[in-house]
Amino acid sequence: MKVIIVKNYHELSKAAADIIIEAVKLNPKLNLGLATGGTTLGLYGYLVKDHKINNTSYKDIKAFNLDEYVGLPKNHEYTYYRFMHDNFFNHVNFKEDNVYIPDGHSLNLKEKALEFEQLIIDNPIDLQLLGLGVNGHIGFNEPGTSFESKTDIVSLTKETIKVNSRFFPGHEELVPNKAVSMGISSILRAKKILLLASGEKKAQAIRDFIEGPITTDLPVSCLKTHPDVTVILDEEAAQLLSK
Ligand code: GLP
Repeated sequence: MKVIIVKNYHELSKAAADIIIEAVKLNPKLNLGLATGGTTLGLYGYLVKDHKINNTSYKDIKAFNLDEYVGLPKNHEYTYYRFMHDNFFNHVNFKEDNVYIPDGHSLNLKEKALEFEQLIIDNPIDLQLLGLGVNGHIGFNEPGTSFESKTDIVSLTKETIKVNSRFFPGHEELVPNKAVSMGISSILRAKKILLLASGEKKAQAIRDFIEGPITTDLPVSCLKTHPDVTVILDEEAAQLLSK
């Protein structure tokens, strides 16, 4: 595992963007696994800027998102579908047909989750971007999730609901308590994984991950079993590391 510590959020976003741009240029048909959350916003900003200046093309790139809330219509302002379109897809040249986000608003959620799992088996992800929950979750795989888990409907902890309520300003009661998420085993199939963590709120989970044991109590620790992981931290997220 490669751990890169940079000064601040801007440097983290730039370093992550450089890795993704390089991968996209190297393989114009890359299968790119994407994540949402505040941590990724700066990165998507850089990717959009780079597309406008350098014409980096996403024409034949396929994007597969990690997760989606259950119960909100696709185009609702707080879905991850909207997050991704508003912050990234609508500003670069992705083909809408190449954009895959788990379906959180179907009558057949379970069936749709199974279909999504099959989709990412048929289209193996070359590079998977991950953020990190304060409690060590990746995607929406909360502590206690089996490392064998596959794309499925999952329940969110009270803590995650509270932390994520900041994205529902004035409508905190709308934060769903369920989501559809790639499972841990789905994530671990990606050829390369890029994990980002920024800010002091992530420092404890980062220390437990980097210096602690592999345990389902800390879902991110599963990454230690993967052969090609890069972790980018800013100084705040890295502040509890012993060296
Ligand atoms: C949500 C998402 C995760 C993301 C996490 C971190 O819970 N399901 O995929 O990694 O938030 O979010 P943030 O970057 O806003 O701290």
